[in-house]
Amino acid sequence: MEKKNIDWANLGFGYIQTDKRYVSNYKNGAWDEGGLTDDATVVINECAGVLQYAQTVFEGLKAYTTEDGHIVTFRPDLNAERLEQSAKRLEMPVFPKERFIDAVTQVVKANAAYVPPYGTGATLYIRPYLFGTNPVIGVKPADEYQFRMFCTPVGPYFKGGAKPITICVSDFDRAAPHGTGHIKAGLNYAMSMHAIMEAHRNGFDENMYLDAATRTKVEETGGANFLFVTKDNKVVTPRSNSILPSITRRSLIYVAREYLGLEVEEREVFFDEVKDFAECGLCGTAAVISPVGKIVDHGKEICMPSGMEKMGPVIQKLYDTLTGIQMGRIQAPEGWIHVVE
Ligand code: PLP
Ligand code: COI
Repeated sequence: MEKKNIDWANLGFGYIQTDKRYVSNYKNGAWDEGGLTDDATVVINECAGVLQYAQTVFEGLKAYTTEDGHIVTFRPDLNAERLEQSAKRLEMPVFPKERFIDAVTQVVKANAAYVPPYGTGATLYIRPYLFGTNPVIGVKPADEYQFRMFCTPVGPYFKGGAKPITICVSDFDRAAPHGTGHIKAGLNYAMSMHAIMEAHRNGFDENMYLDAATRTKVEETGGANFLFVTKDNKVVTPRSNSILPSITRRSLIYVAREYLGLEVEEREVFFDEVKDFAECGLCGTAAVISPVGKIVDHGKEICMPSGMEKMGPVIQKLYDTLTGIQMGRIQAPEGWIHVVE
């Protein structure tokens, strides 16, 4: 199969339309058989639930070309399970896990020409999502839904790739204590648009959100969880009911313990502790692990000892091991790698 003529090494994190996407519609209490389509356009009623009340949830995962030339995806079963949790929280029908994984396989196979070659630094980002399609004007769940999955080749989420970024402590809250922070609902991202634009206008790459109840604990950023490393090489990551349970974070905790022999603490992390850490990174499918060099709290700067030039040594080891597993250079734990072809 001939690859598309794309400058893989210089891709940013943007949308490039590919050839095929998967669509299945839900009506009268059941999903139709679904399948691939060339049509990248969605036509829905002006009063559709998603347009009026943001009834939509989504996922994000990636396909990789391995060193030996296979195309694989990373733990798609966990994305299917999280989409189920998200759908239930917004009173939407669940798209079955086996069908989700089959759709991933179909979409990636049909767009194999867009899967970035091994060694380019780019990957294929897959975006599954689910939204209410029929008219609703009173506040209630839709009766009809569409599940869709497209893919797009991407480069690094943050410009500069592995260069440390600077983030600021946000004045806005991302999620309420008993709200929707733990699910991947579009509404969580809509509310972050103003906060991220404010951060950018003030010269920062991202926001650090604190817990809404006390504003003393570290939560996450708009699109990634935090990982910290202590001066004695312990990995510390925030535990909270209002952050997204990142699949990358869960995988990195395992990698840290089982592959690197590091101690890991998943616990509440107070903002006051941040100044004492040696390294900081943001982890997620899009972010992979992006190092943070500086955290600014209303003019007060916390400069991570790892500096602004490169990743700290522990974050680098985590990054190398995780990407090594994803690209087939390092033996993966049972069930983590789903071979597409
Ligand atoms: N936190 C938020 C708010 C996100 O949007 C994401 C991205 O999916 C993550 C964390 C990382 O999650 P994952 O590692 O499953 O991609
Ligand atoms: C992902 O990492 O898959 C996400 O959905 C994050 C998003 C902000 C791009």
